[in-house]
Amino acid sequence: MLVDRYGLPLTTSVPEARDAYVTGIDHILAATFGASDAFAASVEADPGFALGFVGLARARMYDTDIPGAQRAMATARACATQLTEREAAHLAVFELLFQGRNSEARRAVQDHVADYPRDVLVAQICTNIFGLIGMSGEPGRESLQLAFTTQLIEALGEDWWIMSVHGQALCEVGQLDEAMSMMERSLALNNVNANASHFKAHTLYEQGAGEVGRAYLADWIANYDERSVLHGHLSWHRALWALEQEDEAELWKIYSSSIAPAASHSLPVNVLTDAAALLYRAEIAGLNVAPELWSDLSAYASRYFPNPGMSFADIHSALAHAMAGDGERLAVLAETQSGFAGDLVRPVARAWGAIARQDWTVALHDLTPVMADHARLGGSRAQRDLLELTYLNLLLKSGHADEAHRAILSRRPIFSHAAPVAGFG
Ligand SMILES: [Fe+2]
Repeated sequence: MLVDRYGLPLTTSVPEARDAYVTGIDHILAATFGASDAFAASVEADPGFALGFVGLARARMYDTDIPGAQRAMATARACATQLTEREAAHLAVFELLFQGRNSEARRAVQDHVADYPRDVLVAQICTNIFGLIGMSGEPGRESLQLAFTTQLIEALGEDWWIMSVHGQALCEVGQLDEAMSMMERSLALNNVNANASHFKAHTLYEQGAGEVGRAYLADWIANYDERSVLHGHLSWHRALWALEQEDEAELWKIYSSSIAPAASHSLPVNVLTDAAALLYRAEIAGLNVAPELWSDLSAYASRYFPNPGMSFADIHSALAHAMAGDGERLAVLAETQSGFAGDLVRPVARAWGAIARQDWTVALHDLTPVMADHARLGGSRAQRDLLELTYLNLLLKSGHADEAHRAILSRRPIFSHAAPVAGFG
């Protein structure tokens, strides 16, 4: 029996199918372009290879080709006749994921990983910022994420992928030295892994090392295919540093070439959240944002997130609708009962509405209680700095300058000397 790169047996006897399968998994683990083609080559070499079709479905999910993913899963089911116990359980986990049964899928991943920690395509479902733990809406989810990756790294050891996602989890709970060490070791083993360069950039951001981070990412991204899943988001990180370093020309150049809905190849959740956060962070830094950028983004949000449910996306849709003046769509989000953190989406959406009316006092009233635990909304700390900087701006606009300084010092000390907010001195 052939085995994958982690030594797990595969029900295929065709070496070309195995080799292409391994390549496909590596593309998913490294967030590099080419996973769909690799899995397609795998199942072309062995049309009876069930796990090859599961991999193809996962890759198509990243391509946002949901009908294609469903077709691949149907074929996987049809040829799943003589699978090992591990392969059958692997397929069952992806069935739950593709049916949108996220709580059950998360439990199934955790059970599966307890038995097969080296089954990385399954483990990966619960590792990233937008994974099933990250988007659970649970209090303490960042610690749960770290517990999950700790369990995996104990089993996998010096593996470039697990080190990169364990480093993410360490970074997000504030263990920055450990995170950086993990990223450097991961990148030394595989420098093309975007999950490692991404969180090396996050760690530099959390350390307040913006100039180092900006230079690092500019260099790293030069060899990263722009069709890759993290290209738009890494561009967002670069643009944020350009904003902080008052390089407005570069900010807009990156926005229009790599972040804006018309340009980005990213997943819709990244396109929406990165674009909305960047535009608003530019506004509160004192830049002029062209109104059509907001209306384009509001239209994009309506198309890709027509119904509330994914709370992290929902707060960004609400921002785009508010700034574009679409009160009707904003009202839907301000009243939503859906989503893993819908209770937080409602006040954030109301706050954006008040901000669009320049009613700073009402906005501050709505946003303040959200600040107690906005991690439940999902996203990284750097992404949720949208809320931190908005809160700071509202305190300033409402005439509470002393409180603004105390708040940023206690909540986000990296911004205490130089927050990119107009009027914060
Ligand atoms: Fe990021």
